[in-house]
Order: sequence, then C-alpha cells, then structure tokens
Amino acid sequence: MNILMLTGSPHKNGTSNTLAREFIRGAREAGHQVEVYDCAHGNLHPCYGCDRCGMNGDCVQKDDGNEVLKKLLAADAVVFVTPVYYFGMSAQLKTMVDRLYARNGDITRKRMKAALIATAWNDDDTVMKGIKTHFDIIFDYLAFQNRGMLLARGAGTVGMMPKRYLDEAYALGTNI
Ligand SMILES: Cc1cc2nc3c(=O)[nH]c(=O)nc-3n(C[C@H](O)[C@H](O)[C@H](O)COP(=O)(O)O)c2cc1C
Repeated sequence: MNILMLTGSPHKNGTSNTLAREFIRGAREAGHQVEVYDCAHGNLHPCYGCDRCGMNGDCVQKDDGNEVLKKLLAADAVVFVTPVYYFGMSAQLKTMVDRLYARNGDITRKRMKAALIATAWNDDDTVMKGIKTHFDIIFDYLAFQNRGMLLARGAGTVGMMPKRYLDEAYALGTNI
C-alpha cells in the first residue's frame, strides 16, 4: 500500500515526528511504502479562497500544494501528524488540510484509509477532545476509513513522553 504522511511540526526531532518515524518503521516492515510531506518546512501557503479550483481542479498557487494533492490521489492511505496547538491541529498542517479543497470530490470518491497521530503537552481529559472531534468530522466528510488515532497526552518533549506511545505508533504503522 502507498501511504502519504503529512506532518505539521516545526520540531524535526520533536514528539510528533518521533512517533511518525515509529509509524513509518512499522509500516515499512509490513511491506508498505511511505512518503512524507513536511508541511512545516515545505513551500506551502494558505488557501486563497478564490474558488478557481471549483473544488475540482488545480490550485492557482505555484507552491507544493498541487504536487502534494497529486501524491495524495495516488496513495491508498493518508496519515496526519501534528502537535496539538490550542486544542486543534497546528496551523502548519491545517494549511495543507485546507488545500485539500481543490480536489475535494476526487479525494472523497477514493474512500481512502486514514490515521492521525497527535501529541500534546498536557495529560488531562480535555486536551484531545477538540482535535479528535475535528478529525472525526473531517474523516467522515472526506469518506476516509479511520484506521486509528494515536492521541499522545503528556508528550510535550521526547523525554517526558510515555514510552508506550512509541509502541502504539509502530503498531499503527503495521496495522494500517
Ligand atoms: C502554539 C502552541 C500551542 C500549543 N497548544 C497546546 C495545547 O492546547 N495543549 C497542550 O497540551 N499543548 C499545547 N502545546 C504544546 C505542544 O502540543 C506539545 O509540546 C507537543 O507535544 C509538541 O510536539 P512537537 O515536538 O512534535 O512539535 C502548544 C504548543 C505551541 C507551540
């Protein structure tokens, strides 16, 4: 299976990218191909809202967006990876999520597999509520098959992150 992973952390060696690497290790061991697009360090800009794409065509912007959409449409699964910023995904990842608009219909028709990896500093019952609800709705809206959501709480730094999340990320990769 071809998997496209979209990462949204400015920390290349932070907790979300650490879990992303464990996911990739698991997925590759299970025989899948994984390609990563780093939304935090790529050439990517927010949706203009111009609607020139008509939700069914190329975006007018000359950045990485169209290329990422092409990769997404060629993939069997998409994995979203993000730190929790104010109870939601990071702006870096949201920038790419909004750009899905240009191919909304094509994406929905694919009924792709999808997964989420999110990390947060806090470890309480509230911290993942917003992001989980948001991705539940996005997955439903885009007809994604939910293959798992790893919501790592108390994971502000690699040092403080409970080790079980590394195993869970690896398992998510093998089972997607
Ligand atoms: C702008 C910003 C907003 C944040 N908002 C939250 C939050 O709402 N709840 C929380 O627990 N942690 C919050 N954090 C902390 C990060 O979610 C946390 O440190 C995360 O694990 C960092 O992941 P990374 O190392 O992969 O970037 C925030 C951090 C930043 C920079």
